[in-house]
Amino acid sequence: MMKKITLLLAMLLVIMAAGCSKGPAASGAAAQSNTLVAGTDASFPPFEYMSPTGQPEGFDVDLIKAIGENQKLNVEVKHTGWDGMMNGLSNGTVKIGIAGITITDDRKKSFDFTAPYFTAKQVILVKDNGPLANVKQVADLKGKLIGVQTGTTGASLVESTFGKGYSNMKGYTDIASAIEDLQNGRIQSVIADNAVIKKFVNKLNLKQVKIIEDSSVKTETYGIAVKKGSKELLDKLNKGLAAVKQNGKFDQLYKKYFAN
Ligand code: ARG
Repeated sequence: MMKKITLLLAMLLVIMAAGCSKGPAASGAAAQSNTLVAGTDASFPPFEYMSPTGQPEGFDVDLIKAIGENQKLNVEVKHTGWDGMMNGLSNGTVKIGIAGITITDDRKKSFDFTAPYFTAKQVILVKDNGPLANVKQVADLKGKLIGVQTGTTGASLVESTFGKGYSNMKGYTDIASAIEDLQNGRIQSVIADNAVIKKFVNKLNLKQVKIIEDSSVKTETYGIAVKKGSKELLDKLNKGLAAVKQNGKFDQLYKKYFAN
């Protein structure tokens, strides 16, 4: 009798253990399929950059995590690069794009954007001891090499000023490389988003450079992008964005990344 009970108990335990081991595995798989990949280009401080251990971090990264938390979305931020993010949004491997992306009419043809969350402006970076030190506007850069990040609104500004495919525009995969070329004299100017240029100048402690604001250049606003027609996701992102603006989280992040 006792033996039978022990046997029964043992069997029960085995069944329970099997059930248990199935549990977490199954929910793990489910969690994974619920994960929303947020693509970014982590070369754009303080919005997104790589931590020393190779994790994307920055204002945008914290912001999308806060929005995800607020809306109970399981967001995983991945460094895809700029083109990788755009392509991923189109082919569905990336669900959310957050990378200081300016909302433009052209991009609205392929993507939907949340409400704007940041205002920016393209600025010009030059050497303050060089021939361009006294330029006032983008048009004054005529004939000199201008570095931009390929595919960005900085590049569009140069092309709208000098024409499409302007031969003195040099495209880079990131702003850091353009700034490096400015430093070593390969190009004479860089055009990019104001907060990012400012951050690089401070972070790299760049000397003998000057940031110039062209008063005729219009401001831009950043939005979070989804593939066109992803209404449900877009609604959640907008709700989450409104909530974090309301509850002080947004301000807290703003202070964390833009105080100085
Ligand atoms: N705001 C500019 C644009 O949308 C530049 C954004 C670049 N962002 C980045 N993470 N590299 O075109």
